[in-house]
Amino acid sequence: MPYPGKSPTPDLKPFVKWAGGKRKLLPDIVDNLPEGWDGMTYYEPFVGGGAALFGLRPSKAVACDMNSELMAAYRALKDDAGGLISRLAELARDISEKRYYEVRAMDRQEGYASLSDCERAARLIYLNRTCYNGLYRVNSRGLFNVPRGSYVDPKVLDEAALRAVSAYLRKAKVRLMCGDFAEAVKDAGEGSFVYFDPPYHAPDRNFTSYQSGGFGEDEQERLRDVFAGLAGRGARCLLSNADTPFVRDLYRRKGFKAVSVKAVRVINSRAAGRGKVGEVLIRNYWPCGGPQAGGFRSGKGFRTARRFGRSALPSPWLSVGLSDFRSGGLVRL
Ligand SMILES: C[S@@+](CC[C@H](N)C(=O)[O-])C[C@H]1O[C@@H](n2cnc3c(N)ncnc32)[C@H](O)[C@@H]1O
Repeated sequence: MPYPGKSPTPDLKPFVKWAGGKRKLLPDIVDNLPEGWDGMTYYEPFVGGGAALFGLRPSKAVACDMNSELMAAYRALKDDAGGLISRLAELARDISEKRYYEVRAMDRQEGYASLSDCERAARLIYLNRTCYNGLYRVNSRGLFNVPRGSYVDPKVLDEAALRAVSAYLRKAKVRLMCGDFAEAVKDAGEGSFVYFDPPYHAPDRNFTSYQSGGFGEDEQERLRDVFAGLAGRGARCLLSNADTPFVRDLYRRKGFKAVSVKAVRVINSRAAGRGKVGEVLIRNYWPCGGPQAGGFRSGKGFRTARRFGRSALPSPWLSVGLSDFRSGGLVRL
C-alpha cells in the first residue's frame, strides 16, 4: 500500500478551494477505509477539489465531477501542466478589479466553449483564488457570477502544488470523467472502492451553488439507490453526508446505518443563513482491522491514523456488534 503513510508529498493537495472540501474529514475517512483498499480501483464520483483523492493517493483511480470547468482543469493538469502554469503566470500578473471582471466575463464571449483546457483551467484557478470566498457559483445560464474577493495578496499561482497534482494524476493514471455520478461508477463492482461525497443534504433549502440544477432530495434518493446497487455488486462503498433525519432514514430503509463522525461544518455560503450541521459516514463493510478495531488498531490502520495525527481515539464503529457481520466481509449496519 504506497499511500497514505509512505513518501508524504506536502504539495499534493487540492489546487482549488472548493465548497464541501474534505480535508478536515480525512482522518475519519482514513479510519474507515476497507481492508486492502489500495489494491482496489478507487472511484470518486464527486471529486470536487480532490481532498480525499490527493490525501489518500490511491494507486488506481477514477475521478469524476459534473462541473465541466473543474474537470477541464484536472485534464489540463494531467496532460499539459506546463502550458497551464504559463497561462496562469500571465494572468497572475494582474489581479486588479478591472482584470478580475474581464477574466470573469470570458464565458460570456463567443468562442469560449472552444478554448483549450489549459485556457479554461487557468481562468478557473485565477477566479477561484481571487473571487469572494473561493466560491464556485453560476447563474441560470451557467455563467460564473461570483464577485471579486478582497484578498490583498492572493497566491494565484502555486507552481509546486500544480506540479505535484500533475505528477500524481499521471503516475496513478487517474481516469478523469466529467458527468453524472451514476455513469462514473457503472463499471464498479468487486475489487472497487467507491467514496461518495455528494452535495450535502440541506433540509431547509436547495443548495445550488456548485452548478445550476442543484442536488435535491430526489437526487439524494437516486444516489442511495446507486450506493445500494454497488453494494449488491460487491463494491466497497463509503459515503459522507449531512447528519439529518432524512439521510439517516434514506439509508436505514435499505438496511445501511449512518454513523455520526461529529464533524461540524458550515454548509450554507450565505453568511446570514449559516447553519452548522454534523456529518455522517455510511459504509457497507468493516474498516481495516474489523469491527472491534474500528479501523485503526491493526498495523496498517494504526499507521494511517498516525499519519493524520490520530492516536487511539474511540471509534464510532466500536459500538457495532459482531452479529451484524455478513459473509464476504460486506456488512449492512
Ligand atoms: C461536496 S462537493 C465534493 C467536495 C470534494 N470531496 C472536495 O473535497 O473538494 C460535491 C461535488 O459534487 C459535484 N456534483 C453535483 N452533482 C453531481 C452529479 N450529479 N454527478 C457528479 N458530480 C456532481 C459538484 O460539482 C461538487 O464538486
